[in-house]
Amino acid sequence: MWENKMPINEVREIRCKTNVYLGVGAIKKMNDIAKELKNMGISSVVIVTGQGAYKKTGAWDYVEAALKENGMQYELYNKVTPNPTVQQVDEAVKLGMSIGAKAVIGIGGGSPIDAAKSAAILLEYPDKNATDLYEFQFTPSKAVPIIAVNLTHGTGTEANRFAVVSILEKEYKPAIAYDVIYPLYSIDDPQFMTKLPANQTTYVSVDALNHIIEASTTKATNPFSIMLAKETVRLIAKYLPQALNNPEDLTARYYLTYASMIAGICFDNGLLHFTHALEHPLSAVKPDLAHGLGLSVILPAVVKQIYPATAEILADVLSPIIPNLQGNASEAETASKGIEKWLASVGIVTKLSDIGFKKEDVPRLVELAFDTPSLGFLLSMAPIEADRHTVEAIYTDSI
Ligand SMILES: [Fe+2]
Repeated sequence: MWENKMPINEVREIRCKTNVYLGVGAIKKMNDIAKELKNMGISSVVIVTGQGAYKKTGAWDYVEAALKENGMQYELYNKVTPNPTVQQVDEAVKLGMSIGAKAVIGIGGGSPIDAAKSAAILLEYPDKNATDLYEFQFTPSKAVPIIAVNLTHGTGTEANRFAVVSILEKEYKPAIAYDVIYPLYSIDDPQFMTKLPANQTTYVSVDALNHIIEASTTKATNPFSIMLAKETVRLIAKYLPQALNNPEDLTARYYLTYASMIAGICFDNGLLHFTHALEHPLSAVKPDLAHGLGLSVILPAVVKQIYPATAEILADVLSPIIPNLQGNASEAETASKGIEKWLASVGIVTKLSDIGFKKEDVPRLVELAFDTPSLGFLLSMAPIEADRHTVEAIYTDSI
């Protein structure tokens, strides 16, 4: 296989709308990036990150050294939680404003990077706050430059224009998508992924898997998204078991990181539909729920619903994890069971009831799927009509 011939210790530049540095040691590019910011006339930045991983992974040492070496002023906001909130974004913006920050560096998985992207917009709109942004009270046309140092292999946010932040009081977890929040540079350095615990390793890869299953079957799908989808599944099928078996395997981490990055580009182009629109209410109601676990709970029921309308695509895209699908509408049940079987093979056997939801909760979840700003748009991208009846059927089937 050609994958073994790739010199993974040589850092390559992948040019999508963001310039992504991919490879073991990519973090060393931070110095060039800080220099570039300086050349752009930027001398103060705010760093947005979570509570521990930025330090534990060692990423912070490189970022801090690069900032110091280039004489940059900075403030560190390190209070972003999984399922970040509008309050956290507002705090990060306030801290950034206190030093006149003209760029944002997000370090972490999807949560810190999405909070950083949101802060980058709000630094340009001092009279707005994160609730305004996530309730779509205005349409941003500018943001300060964003640098993303990615520490997980799931969201793909380092290479796209999406961000997700929760408004907990309303149980809303909306998504925004604006061209102004493509990161300027991103670091995808697999050495930072080797300490991800086994369950997180699986959850983040399942997030990437969901991105491509959805993006390859929306009403907006296209050959580019389908190509990226196929490659994503192939790589996850091959390298997720390898990473679970040996967490320190850098080749496995490299390809899982690459897979999640291209999955991010896949849905930047093809968009998303049911699984994300239905997972967001789950983790808005239970903010401790891992996004990837929430997705995996719903995925088999989603595949069952959409397979008849998308059989040719899914049979092809899913072939590395479900062999022998022919692309006939009648295989919906087989495909759904195949997904369940594969999830079990990577350690996930969780159902909606296992994460604390009961049949009585379904009406509220359906309501949130339709009422949360932005989720209605995702539902409108589904390959079959996403009416209340279908959404209810998916939740009920997932219990
Ligand atoms: Fe996701």
